[in-house]
Amino acid sequence: MTATQTEPTTGDVVLEAENLTKHFPVRRGLRTLFTRDRPTVHAVDDIQLTLRRGQVTALVGESGSGKSTVARLLAQLYSRTSGDIRLHGESVTVHGGRKFRAYCRQVQMIFQDPFASLNPVHTVRYHLTRSLRIHGRAGNSAAELERNLRDLLGRVQLTPPERYLDKFPHELSGGQRQRVSIARALGADPQALLADEPVSMLDVSIRLGVLNLLRDLKERLDLAILYITHDIASARYFADETLVMYAGRMVEGGDSESVTQRPAHPYTRLLIESAPDPDRLDRVGDARPAPDDAGGGEPPSLIAPPAGCRFNPRCPSALPKCSTDLPPRFELPVVDGSKGHWAACWLYEEGAAR
Ligand SMILES: Nc1ncnc2c1ncn2[C@@H]1O[C@H](COP(=O)(O)OP(=O)(O)OP(=O)(O)O)[C@@H](O)[C@H]1O
Ligand SMILES: [Mg+2]
Repeated sequence: MTATQTEPTTGDVVLEAENLTKHFPVRRGLRTLFTRDRPTVHAVDDIQLTLRRGQVTALVGESGSGKSTVARLLAQLYSRTSGDIRLHGESVTVHGGRKFRAYCRQVQMIFQDPFASLNPVHTVRYHLTRSLRIHGRAGNSAAELERNLRDLLGRVQLTPPERYLDKFPHELSGGQRQRVSIARALGADPQALLADEPVSMLDVSIRLGVLNLLRDLKERLDLAILYITHDIASARYFADETLVMYAGRMVEGGDSESVTQRPAHPYTRLLIESAPDPDRLDRVGDARPAPDDAGGGEPPSLIAPPAGCRFNPRCPSALPKCSTDLPPRFELPVVDGSKGHWAACWLYEEGAAR
């Protein structure tokens, strides 16, 4: 097994992040006011990520692991501390204005709470018309605009459109509101959708419908989708590739089936054990015994993150070097057609006793 390099860029890559890092400055207390220390929250460190056309990439991790920060960096809503973001191979940094609008035309974001992201005093028609106008897709006549509005609602399966066009957000169910948010994002005719926990605020019974809609859009419109979630089981169902984050760093990645069915990193194993999945019960013990601290421990402070692997204070399999040396990505052997499965864990270094 060897440390992997960043994957080569291919034609179908829409959006890439390389060594993406975001540190937030912390307001200084009295004790540090006159010192040279400038404490920062290490929210995201050294992230590599590639979104491809017609593919869903899931970003999974517990609360505070930096998932939303990654999405906001990719949407150019936050400036980055360092690293690169490339859209169709070209490095982009925008700070609002016309360049930001042009970027948004290709990269749209969907938020967790559709009620907060829609203006309660405006109708569905208003939200969608505004999106089409901003992105120059409203058409040249009232009839064309009407056709485009109906088409957008049809794409998110809100039919017949006349039933929804003049409704206010409070007149819709949570699932319908999220569909309107998705339609608004599609108004830009984007190539990438960044969906930050798009179903976590919806009733369990309607989550699947919205995920199926996103999957259908991915296939029909050849969209590249980043799907952020706490729920690793839904990543298996919905995503082609799954990446796992812990305390601001990526710890494991690969095709979703391998990451969820044969998790390699002790943190991924812990995540999966806390999300029971009947299909997996007889298989998860294949590689190594399960961590005995399942669910225990706390994520570290991101102001002074632990040296080495950030999971080492909680890890039941930690080696001495885990607390001093940052593990690189180690490629894992191909099992049952697994694709690009890697783990940033010293246990997978050649010769390590597992
Ligand atoms: N604007 C900000 N200023 C300072 N710190 C921030 C800011 N935004 C996020 N953080 C910190 O960065 C870390 C990562 O936050 P982020 O919201 O990206 O996590 P998350 O994985 O999306 O969590 P959740 O699952 O709860 O949404 C947290 O420690 C958070 O407190
Ligand atoms: Mg978040």
